[in-house]
Amino acid sequence: MTGSLVIAGLGPGNDALVTPEVTVALARATDIVGYIPYVARIPARPGLTLHPTDNRVELDRSRHALEMASTGRHVVVVSSGDPGVFAMAAAVFEAVEAGPNEWRALDIRVLPGITAMLAAAARAGAPLGHDFCTINLSDNLKPWAVIENRLRLAVQADFAMAFYNPRSKSRPEGFVRTLEVLKEACADNRPVIFARNVSRPDETINVVPLQDTQADMADMRTVVILGSSQTRIIETGAAPIVYTPRFSS
Ligand SMILES: C[S@@+](CC[C@H](N)C(=O)[O-])C[C@H]1O[C@@H](n2cnc3c(N)ncnc32)[C@H](O)[C@@H]1O
Repeated sequence: MTGSLVIAGLGPGNDALVTPEVTVALARATDIVGYIPYVARIPARPGLTLHPTDNRVELDRSRHALEMASTGRHVVVVSSGDPGVFAMAAAVFEAVEAGPNEWRALDIRVLPGITAMLAAAARAGAPLGHDFCTINLSDNLKPWAVIENRLRLAVQADFAMAFYNPRSKSRPEGFVRTLEVLKEACADNRPVIFARNVSRPDETINVVPLQDTQADMADMRTVVILGSSQTRIIETGAAPIVYTPRFSS
């Protein structure tokens, strides 16, 4: 029996943002594997087994999914947003690389999803309209010195930036330091977008000048976007529109 493994992105939260391709893969699955809140988004049905697991067990979860696919099951590993952005796709391939040869012959596909940064940018306008970069602010998998160096170089290159995993209870200091570095390195008072729970019922989008930002404006449900030196704000009667022109001087 030939099994398969699909690594799928569920988008930022709203079911309307799940792609049709992912919906088809979920309907064909025999097994769903993933972090508890993401698996909770998949309705139970006969013939489908849900395998929710805690965070931080990505490699174990990947091996489990690969083992099931190699016995003929149709397994979907779910991530929020896009599975290739700080998520399960890389973890699965890390397991494939280190695992038995037969895993390399498996039918493995990655199905993209709408990543939090793009959903947030669309809500605010077009802050990523010119060159940008993305930094994961968690120092669980890399030293803090690497993050700080990348921040400084990204400011020097005048990228707009999107920050994932900005602040958690176990890492309260990193985002404090991030804001210190940015306030020092950016000569101007560029806009910062705090987008929390994007596309969910309790979504909030706040646009704050860099100098007025505070670390407690972000948590683990927030993606933060910093404009480049070219980013502009159009004031409207309602929420401001933030955009970065496509040209650069
Ligand atoms: C481990 S990363 C996973 C990213 C995910 N794979 C993606 O493409 O969006 C988790 C981080 O994504 C961001 N995030 C995910 N969903 C979000 C949402 N609906 N609203 C705001 N930020 C979100 C937050 O920064 C959160 O700490």
